[in-house]
Amino acid sequence: MAYLALYRALRPQTFAEVVGQEQTVTALQNAIKDDRLTHAYIFSGPRGTGKTSIAKIMAKAVNCENPVQGEPCNQCSACMDINNGNFMDVIEIDAASNRGIDEIRDLRERVRVMPAQGKKKVYIIDEVHMLTTEAFNALLKTLEEPPESVIFILATTEPQKIPSTIISRCQRYNFRRLQPQQIILRLREAAHSNGIELDDDSLALIARRANGGMRDALGMLDQLYSFKDHDIKREDVLEVLGLVDDLFVSRLLDAVLAQDPGTMVDMLNTALNEGKEAGQLIRETSLYLRDLLLYKLVGERAEFLFVGAANRENLQKQAQRADKHKILQSLRIAMEAGEKLKFSEGQRFLLELTYLEMMALFAQEEAKPAEISEGKKKPTAADKEKIGRNDAREILWNRILAGVKEKKIPTHALLSQGKLLGTKGDTMYIGYQKGYGFHKERMEEKANREILEQVIKEVFNRDMEIIFVFLDDQQVNDMVVKKAIEYFGEDIVQIKD
Ligand SMILES: Nc1ncnc2c1ncn2[C@@H]1O[C@H](COP(=O)(O)OP(=O)(O)OP(=O)(O)O)[C@@H](O)[C@H]1O
Ligand SMILES: [Mg+2]
Ligand SMILES: [Zn+2]
Repeated sequence: MAYLALYRALRPQTFAEVVGQEQTVTALQNAIKDDRLTHAYIFSGPRGTGKTSIAKIMAKAVNCENPVQGEPCNQCSACMDINNGNFMDVIEIDAASNRGIDEIRDLRERVRVMPAQGKKKVYIIDEVHMLTTEAFNALLKTLEEPPESVIFILATTEPQKIPSTIISRCQRYNFRRLQPQQIILRLREAAHSNGIELDDDSLALIARRANGGMRDALGMLDQLYSFKDHDIKREDVLEVLGLVDDLFVSRLLDAVLAQDPGTMVDMLNTALNEGKEAGQLIRETSLYLRDLLLYKLVGERAEFLFVGAANRENLQKQAQRADKHKILQSLRIAMEAGEKLKFSEGQRFLLELTYLEMMALFAQEEAKPAEISEGKKKPTAADKEKIGRNDAREILWNRILAGVKEKKIPTHALLSQGKLLGTKGDTMYIGYQKGYGFHKERMEEKANREILEQVIKEVFNRDMEIIFVFLDDQQVNDMVVKKAIEYFGEDIVQIKD
């Protein structure tokens, strides 16, 4: 079946056609109408939210022969040439390419040349954060002495990477993620005008997964279309786009609440082996927990962002079972993990640890109130989190020990005197007290080490280097342990006994 390239075909051609970004659109359109444009703009915001589209609309509006209320007519030769990419005075530079950098280098001379074809030269510099220092300097010099009749529009998804010297010379507009509802409306139109038939559930699913990006949403519709153009259902969307089903997340959470690590780990393995990404799973889990929390708090009034109709009943059951503070805490754990995953190699490991932490959190039950009434200090949120992390480590350590025991009991005896400290990248740190030098040395021997490596490989599905350390070695405490807190919390530093 054909490929529609909807996102290109459906690029908004006027300010009126832009979805969302209301403040930006109004401000720019008014400035054009009143002839108040400045010479440099930064458009920053997530991918596929309209930065390049609006830059092009501006380029047309300032060069259009018959503009109306700041809008381009899209019919004069200037508008049409710009739409076709044939207009000499609208120059698009991709800062991420080598050519882009060369173009910036001789920008200073080139901008002095008056517009050849239109009223204003418009430079659209995409992905501007990718420029080299040298290119930034060249750009800065140009912005410092702005020539007449030139407008720069710098677009970026990562404004924090742009030198402040540049930012301060530009007017800045922040583009926002689009609301699911805005995306749904646009998708429905796009589907309708291309004869694609899909149900509301599918639309909602795509809109949610696009995470506020219209290009991604339209791209997904394209992908679906190339697979099937009619009677598209939720299952088709999940299959074609390789998404995690909310039913899956729901069952995963069932395993967490039921304190069933075996099922949980199996489910994670299955998902990862099917090619799902750890980051995706964590994101979906966050969305699920968000829906669960909201339902717990406001009941039927909750507007679900992720959980589909078929899954509401199970969510309701979970809401009855789970404590709201713990759901909130789990949501925090998931969101934190999402951040860490961006920088981590040990995806599977971190994923498992995240769910184990949640499991540990839901395990600390009713005993607490009694303790508190006996005059003990009420545990703070930070204390609770520490407990969560410690329990997660314990669950993990027990799994490793059990795996080793199955393979060789004497190795298990040696290992069980140690303590899992934490991991850093592909390295796992295991600590022994000073008096256990014998155990440590034996574990360092090839035969025992190999058994442990094998178990770890089975548990995490990847190779890890193991380093055995003495717990009360000051240097270890300072160096190794401080690094190892990455996954297990600061409490580890205090392990002495
Ligand atoms: N606000 C919007 N309204 C309508 N369509 C949009 C909007 N934003 C994006 N789109 C759709 O997505 C496509 C890509 O948008 P655009 O190139 O403007 O995004 P961008 O913000 O420049 O993204 P990137 O940062 O990836 O360059 C457009 O052709 C259009 O189909
Ligand atoms: Mg762009
Ligand atoms: Zn025109």
